Amino acid sequence: MYQLIEEVPYEFRLVGEGAANCVFEVLGYPPDPTHSCLQGNLLRVAKAGKKSYGHDEIQAYWESVVRPLFRPDDLVRQQLVKLGGRRIVSRLNAVLENEESTRRVDFRGTRVAEAEYGMLVEDMRQRRPGDLTLEFKPKWLVQSPTAPPTATRCRNCAREVLKKCQRQPPPPSRQQQSTGNAEASQEEHEGETTILCPLNFIACATSADSLATLLAHLLPRCNPPRLGPIPRSVSAASAPASAAAASSSSLSLQHDRLSRWLQTNTLLPRLRAAQLTCSSSSSPSLLFSLPSPPASSSSCRPFPTALSPPSPGRETPHLHRPPSPPASSPSLLAAHAPPPGPPARPGDAGAFAGEAAESLALAMTLRDCTCFIRIPADPSQPVEAKLADLDRKRGDVKLSYWQKTERELIEGGFYFDQRAVEAGVAVDCWLGRLKTLLERGEDGAGGGGGGG
Ligand SMILES: Nc1ncnc2c1ncn2[C@@H]1O[C@H](COP(=O)(O)OP(=O)(O)OP(=O)(O)O)[C@@H](O)[C@H]1O
Ligand SMILES: [Mg+2]
Ligand SMILES: [Zn+2]
Repeated sequence: MYQLIEEVPYEFRLVGEGAANCVFEVLGYPPDPTHSCLQGNLLRVAKAGKKSYGHDEIQAYWESVVRPLFRPDDLVRQQLVKLGGRRIVSRLNAVLENEESTRRVDFRGTRVAEAEYGMLVEDMRQRRPGDLTLEFKPKWLVQSPTAPPTATRCRNCAREVLKKCQRQPPPPSRQQQSTGNAEASQEEHEGETTILCPLNFIACATSADSLATLLAHLLPRCNPPRLGPIPRSVSAASAPASAAAASSSSLSLQHDRLSRWLQTNTLLPRLRAAQLTCSSSSSPSLLFSLPSPPASSSSCRPFPTALSPPSPGRETPHLHRPPSPPASSPSLLAAHAPPPGPPARPGDAGAFAGEAAESLALAMTLRDCTCFIRIPADPSQPVEAKLADLDRKRGDVKLSYWQKTERELIEGGFYFDQRAVEAGVAVDCWLGRLKTLLERGEDGAGGGGGGG
């Protein structure tokens, strides 16, 4: 294992940070083989004061649980690195202090933890100046197994509306949640911009509308960003380049390649399949096993119609009993078996609970990862798309937060249209349309591929 050495005059530059980690570029090391593994990699280190697992545990989990779910090229490569002493951490913190004014406001003041290990992660930034790069969180590509069976919003859209609701009007003295939940803080930050239904990542394979929605969301976030207006109703492949974008035919070609990748990639469907697999049948019982919190713990007012069916025959959500699995859309909504792992001993309730908890934690890991895409300026080079930030989640710390969120979504009626209308939020959720598209696809496959 590589170890950073205090005596080496590394030059550290801050590349990015999230709620739990800081990522640095490492320069200034001698060009000898000792340091060759720094080439093409970035240094990822944990922030202080977080309840996350250490990087040694995160790496062991990634190797044994996460990596087997994917193909080698699907994942950003990562390896442990020894930080080699307090002085290295002090130097990293000096960089953060220097960069304070350029950091995201809610991250300012956070520092690198004094830990034994960090991680070297494959650098997914531009290799050459003309490369197009993009990062996004695919989030929940499958409906929550505990959502009401007749929900009209996916879990992500439901949560976006909840957050809007929580923000308006802003509570007088709002404090950060003590869980320091990464999902909450990052999404709140992103919530200032457009809401994207993540089901578009699946729907875009067969829907031009969905593809246009995705491109409108992603192209301005590319590096370099698209300049000029974004066509809403045509795919980038057939869109005329704007005057500014036309200045670079290479950029236009890269946008076409991104569009094609979105339609044909197998990475996000594979992520979705993994999310489905570990949406364990035992997760619903786990999510619903705690007593309801006192009414005052919810920051949203109760939504009366959530408990009275909007359409005849809708099941009333019972928080101590998981909703029965939906009959109509198994591929979208069904709960699934736990992932492979140590079998529970017969009659061992603790082991069963542990397995359910592991399954839920893995599901949360798969819902919080980041996808990096790099489209080289050189059209003969392949598009690279890889998942990162597949960190083990502290289910023991976060379970009550996950339960509280799901309860708020269900009790508040956020899985249904009406709540979004009330909150004045325009949400273009693909839950219903994706179900139709997938059913059509399944029919097509069942019919022997006969037709149009
Ligand atoms: N392999 C990589 N290549 C290029 N940039 C990276 C890489 N890994 C991380 N980054 C940059 O650093 C930022 C933070 O990294 P990371 O996602 O690992 O932190 P985190 O604290 O786990 O984030 P989150 O709050 O989303 O969980 C990323 O958003 C990205 O901009
Ligand atoms: Mg993370
Ligand atoms: Zn949605």
